Amino acid sequence: MAIVGGEGAWFETKDQGRWLDFGSLSYQANLGHGQKRIAEAIKAQCDELLLTVPSGLYPAKTALANALLAKAPPGFTKVFFTLGGSEAVENALKIARLVTGRHKTISRYRSYHGATMGALALSGDYRRPVLEPVGVGAVHVLDCYESRLPGGATTIEGGGSAESIARTMELEGPRTIAALFVEPVPGQNGCLVPPGGYWDGLRAACDAHGTLLVADCVLNGFGRLGTYYGFESLGSASPDLITVSKGITGGYAPLGAVLVHERVAKHFDDHVLYAGLTFYGHPLGVAAGLEALRIYEEERLISRAAELGRAFAASLASLQDRHPESLPRTRARGLLGAFELAVDDARFAAITKAMNDARLYVHVNKHFKTIVLAPPLVATEADLREGFARLERVLDGAR
Ligand SMILES: Cc1ncc(COP(=O)(O)O)c(C=O)c1O
Repeated sequence: MAIVGGEGAWFETKDQGRWLDFGSLSYQANLGHGQKRIAEAIKAQCDELLLTVPSGLYPAKTALANALLAKAPPGFTKVFFTLGGSEAVENALKIARLVTGRHKTISRYRSYHGATMGALALSGDYRRPVLEPVGVGAVHVLDCYESRLPGGATTIEGGGSAESIARTMELEGPRTIAALFVEPVPGQNGCLVPPGGYWDGLRAACDAHGTLLVADCVLNGFGRLGTYYGFESLGSASPDLITVSKGITGGYAPLGAVLVHERVAKHFDDHVLYAGLTFYGHPLGVAAGLEALRIYEEERLISRAAELGRAFAASLASLQDRHPESLPRTRARGLLGAFELAVDDARFAAITKAMNDARLYVHVNKHFKTIVLAPPLVATEADLREGFARLERVLDGAR
């Protein structure tokens, strides 16, 4: 697809006309299309400074680190910059190994943590087995999520629980797991919203085993779930490390980061952090990130995502109730949502083609016959209505 531009929740292509973006491209375009302010900030940075060293300090870098920490729970004091999400996860893994002296990790099957070998070892989904062996010590556990059934009842699925993760920690050998890596709400694997108490239960399991809790907020961060980093929408527990990318610049430049709690960071007061990247904190990504954070703040986009999320969830529920046979399960949190399609392969292919023909951009997960929705935070109520109207027409046409 040759994207040539766009505005708000819409993007233009060279040969396929105008699409309604119900996926925020690769989940990074939280700020929508055509954000001129970020382009201007990048241009201004070009005039000011482009070349630095990884350890170099300059005003925008310090300001961005402080702005990220200001939104994190109390006690987060350090930021490690990267170029994207996989590198953020990779460096969180290194930090966890160096601090605990352990190498094993736990993560869930229906998860994606990135494409580099360490992050892929943590990932549980279909992208890992084809490349195995990818790393030692990565233990995978079952998921735990709550789905809505037609009519409004809910069911807890996945086969796992916070207790079963605690049990896995014991069975792997008490106090042998460096870190538990979790996306608060797994995104690409189908918006798997856990039931109440799960997130705080993960914290308790980690505390009992001296294991670090890593919240992979690469996709969940910056308002996607209606809160700043995402995990705040699940409970009160604070992680030890937070990985971010994608929405940190709204996708306008490559950037990622690991936010580090002081209880972890203090280890490096007298130990070397064996990690480094030539383009660590590069001024182009940093300038884009700093301006993006200003836009989230000034346009109150995080709280707006929570408000829009209520209408979004209601629209998804009513779509399900009008198509109860083909949509047996839906899930939503903030401006992330998903529906499972109970149709055969041919109808699944026809439905996804019809969505393309309707110029509605969504994420198709063939492995779970699930469609994931993630409109930009700047989408208008009319954009959301239009997206659900297109979905309705596609599903009506496929009856
Ligand atoms: C939760 C999560 N972690 C990590 C990554 C990897 O990020 P990147 O593609 O920027 O390397 C992704 C990408 O989709 C992701 O969704």
